[in-house]
Amino acid sequence: MDQNELKKAVAAAAAQHVKERLHEKFVLGVGTGSTANAFIECLAAFKHDIHCTVASSEGTKARLQALGIPVMDLNSVDEVSVYVDGADETNAQLQLIKGGGGALTREKIIAAVAREFVCIADQSKYVSVLGTFPLPVEVIPMARSHVARAIVMLGGDPVYREGFVTDNGNHILDIHHMHIVNPVALETQLNQITGVVTNGLFAVRPADLLILGTSEGIRSIKA
Ligand code: A5P
Repeated sequence: MDQNELKKAVAAAAAQHVKERLHEKFVLGVGTGSTANAFIECLAAFKHDIHCTVASSEGTKARLQALGIPVMDLNSVDEVSVYVDGADETNAQLQLIKGGGGALTREKIIAAVAREFVCIADQSKYVSVLGTFPLPVEVIPMARSHVARAIVMLGGDPVYREGFVTDNGNHILDIHHMHIVNPVALETQLNQITGVVTNGLFAVRPADLLILGTSEGIRSIKA
């Protein structure tokens, strides 16, 4: 299977995982990116059984609504039953780098509210040490240079994602050349820099379940 087929396979497995758990008060969190888009396509087959979703980006919201699936504001729901999303990198502890698509802040908020966070990824995302994929940091626009200088002090190489504005009206710095041996510590340190909205490390709240597409088949890995 090529990468695209692996994405479709993990998307289908996640859709089945959700389908088996649906009930009247079930709230589905839906992520952002090409793997999440494959998951949304799988939802079409049982869309009438899905009463409520929350979306991690305006793009995902539009895709769900185009299928006729109801999307609610996160403030209107008490909890998210299951949140399904992709990742740019994952390690064996299910700590992730996310935000390649720039939706990291809303993704992290939904992950914080979710009872179960299911990550779907093809094998190219599975790494021993996080950091080969540039780590995104969402910043308040006026703080961009200040945050970039602070990141350099931490040993990172921040690159401004030019021409990109997040759904929240903010900018992204992508940190290159970080060998992230302690993801929880770095996630916490980055969040302490004034002007940082959030960063793309999902280590304080990792995924609960990884559905990984490999050439040998689908692997389910629990945290
Ligand atoms: C979106 O901001 C990201 O966190 C995505 O979940 C991540 O980039 C994975 O995207 P793909 O599924 O397109 O690789």
